[in-house]
Amino acid sequence: GTRTMLSDGECLEDLVKPGDGLVSRRIFTDAEIYELEQKRIFAKGWFFVGHESEVPEPGDVLTRMVGTDPALFVRDDDGVIRVFLNSCRHRGMRVCRTDRANTSFLRCPYHGWAYKNTGELVSVQAEDFYGPDELRKADFGLIPVARLGIHHGLVFATWDEQAPSLDEYLGDMKYYLDIIMNRTGGMRVVGTPQVWEAETGWKFATDNFTDNFHVYFAHHSLVELGMLPNDPDFAGHGTLVVAEEGHILHLTAGAPTHAFESLGLPDELRAKFPEFLDADQVEMAKNTAYSAGTVWPNFHWLQLMSSGTLGQPDVPFLNLRLEVPVSPTRTRMWSWLLIDEAADAEFTKASYETYVRTFGPAGIYDQDDMENWEDCTRTSLGPAARRHTLHHRMGLGTPVDETWPGPGKAYRGSYGEHTQRSWYAAWLRFMTEGRAGRKSQEDGR
Ligand code: FES
Repeated sequence: GTRTMLSDGECLEDLVKPGDGLVSRRIFTDAEIYELEQKRIFAKGWFFVGHESEVPEPGDVLTRMVGTDPALFVRDDDGVIRVFLNSCRHRGMRVCRTDRANTSFLRCPYHGWAYKNTGELVSVQAEDFYGPDELRKADFGLIPVARLGIHHGLVFATWDEQAPSLDEYLGDMKYYLDIIMNRTGGMRVVGTPQVWEAETGWKFATDNFTDNFHVYFAHHSLVELGMLPNDPDFAGHGTLVVAEEGHILHLTAGAPTHAFESLGLPDELRAKFPEFLDADQVEMAKNTAYSAGTVWPNFHWLQLMSSGTLGQPDVPFLNLRLEVPVSPTRTRMWSWLLIDEAADAEFTKASYETYVRTFGPAGIYDQDDMENWEDCTRTSLGPAARRHTLHHRMGLGTPVDETWPGPGKAYRGSYGEHTQRSWYAAWLRFMTEGRAGRKSQEDGR
């Protein structure tokens, strides 16, 4: 087939060979590849915007990103969720410059054009100075996303009119999102997301989320403090799953020394599983202590059990994560905490406190991770390093577990790099075909 050539004559197909587990270091920091990612990934994919529970009231407005474009996440006065480009139609100024607001109207700070929270341009300063036909207000409302989709309260959007529906895009992954997002009938965001930037190429961060075998090593200070099991295989007892479209996850059982089940949730919450999940999903949830997953390309969940305080028991929490690249070597991180709507106040408090002590910019785990991602980025910048590949070959020879009852391909043992290989395969499909693989094969694009 056709090959995707870069300006120096190298081809993307030679730089990324997911089937062999070899990925060039160049793709992580190269400016030309970054520009191509904007066109082929961030203009085309579905991106997480926020959770419905973050905009409970009419008039709620949050500033977010859709792909790499600034966006407004709005519940309009009629209660309809809408997502717009956060940019005035006049000269492009951001119409909302705060993280959050509650308002029926957004007035641009530059020349004062004002928009209703439905996006409609309703008032223009000095309107009398426009001649007839110079400004038709009806044509200059805020630019809405091309498609919007909501699944278990998770709001996603895309700028691509040709994108498959969110339902099709999530495909197999919906089965696993049920377990994480609908196990007890619904989740809500607690607090506000933490947002920060790190000097890392965005793909080093995405690569890390289903990487289980860094935990014992990268976070070894926690092992030494007795906050993680002193067992190099402790996060290896589970299943890695490769779903459609590059979506990936693991469902991991507790270690023999830390034998958690049912996501570590309290009895009154785990008792609700059969109301909302089918029998196979209940069994999977029961056998799971930890889980992480990636909705391709840059949205993740982390369902973890950890102690947040020396000598205190482990507490479960559900962390949602998003990475938005702001340059080839800089990434904006978003981190949310979700709690089961059915949870009581005591569990909510314990889960929230454990989360803020372990994840987010001040979290003891995240600080270790960011140090690794930033260093991997710096070492990929030089001309010598860029000629070499990284290694993602763990588990290449592991057979598919044919007994797995869920959709997708499953592999026994949660130390393996099947998930990353699948992610890079989706990256290559988007970058060379402009769309995720399964759909592109079906519709011939
Ligand atoms: Fe918004 Fe001019 S840029 S009114």
